[in-house]
Amino acid sequence: MINFHRNTKYRATPALREILQETRLHASDFIYPIFLIPGKNKKKAIPSMPDIFQFSINNLLKEIEQVYAKGIKAFLLFGVPDKKKLEISFNEKEFVFKGIQKIKKTFPDIVLITDICLCSYTDNGHCGVFTKKKEKLDNDKSINILAKIAIAHAKAGADIVAPSAMQDGQVFAIRDALDKNEQKNKLILSYAAKFASSFYGPFRDAADCAPQAGDRKAYQLPFTNSKETLLKVQADFREGADMLMVKPALAYLDIIAKVKEQFPTPLAAYNVSGEYAMLKNIQAKNKDQGNKMIFESLTAIKRAGADLIISYHARDIDEILK
Ligand code: PBG
Repeated sequence: MINFHRNTKYRATPALREILQETRLHASDFIYPIFLIPGKNKKKAIPSMPDIFQFSINNLLKEIEQVYAKGIKAFLLFGVPDKKKLEISFNEKEFVFKGIQKIKKTFPDIVLITDICLCSYTDNGHCGVFTKKKEKLDNDKSINILAKIAIAHAKAGADIVAPSAMQDGQVFAIRDALDKNEQKNKLILSYAAKFASSFYGPFRDAADCAPQAGDRKAYQLPFTNSKETLLKVQADFREGADMLMVKPALAYLDIIAKVKEQFPTPLAAYNVSGEYAMLKNIQAKNKDQGNKMIFESLTAIKRAGADLIISYHARDIDEILK
């Protein structure tokens, strides 16, 4: 008579453990975020994000080459201008558009995703433009500008545009604009479940986009609310988002699991700058232990349901998967 379960038999030998492994990480699961600045031969360290730099185009191409050689196929580009001027965001003569063209020309086989937001271009660091009275963001004006940026990125060669401003109707406006401008086959990866999170702190140095006053709580999601989050994800899905994103990742594994269960699109999770910095600090003190913790954390994101992981750790993927 069996009166208790012998569960450990599943994991008794390395070979059993290997054939029964449910989640496996591959380099092709990853999207590596990159920061482009104007100018020549520039490489600027971001103090809060070890090993991550802002590069001018020639150095950025070298960075992409190295990371691509490790098997990473997808890159998420952020343009970081040296002047706060909104027009730079959609002016096709600007460094971002030349950068996109150059990247796709040099690496035609990569998947190039571009972040679509205003926060690096507005003098106040918010993700949209303000109303005349300056008391809140002008949603409908902001989404028109976001659509303009998306068309320009797509025309320059971006394969996927990723709106991250959390303005209502931004996916709709961008889809409509892409379809009317011969960019029908470009995909939209929507930052659908983007939370107002303190884990973005280090990134705001990288993209030079910290809000000068106030916070983003009037448009990014409250981390206390999952129903409100699913309502927002549903809106983006209905507006035509081809891929959805949950951001941040590690403190939001429950949200990743729910979105995966309820929506059939590919799902990305953004392992953000604060999450990166925490484990990089441990890795700096003890490389082996740090890499194991990074590997375990990234595996958890995939196990929760993410098909793709956007992570700065992608540049160390060879060491992490070892
Ligand atoms: C800009 C944007 C942010 C991140 C990606 N796009 C910052 C923010 O919304 O404040 C965060 C990425 C990270 O922390 O790694 N809209």
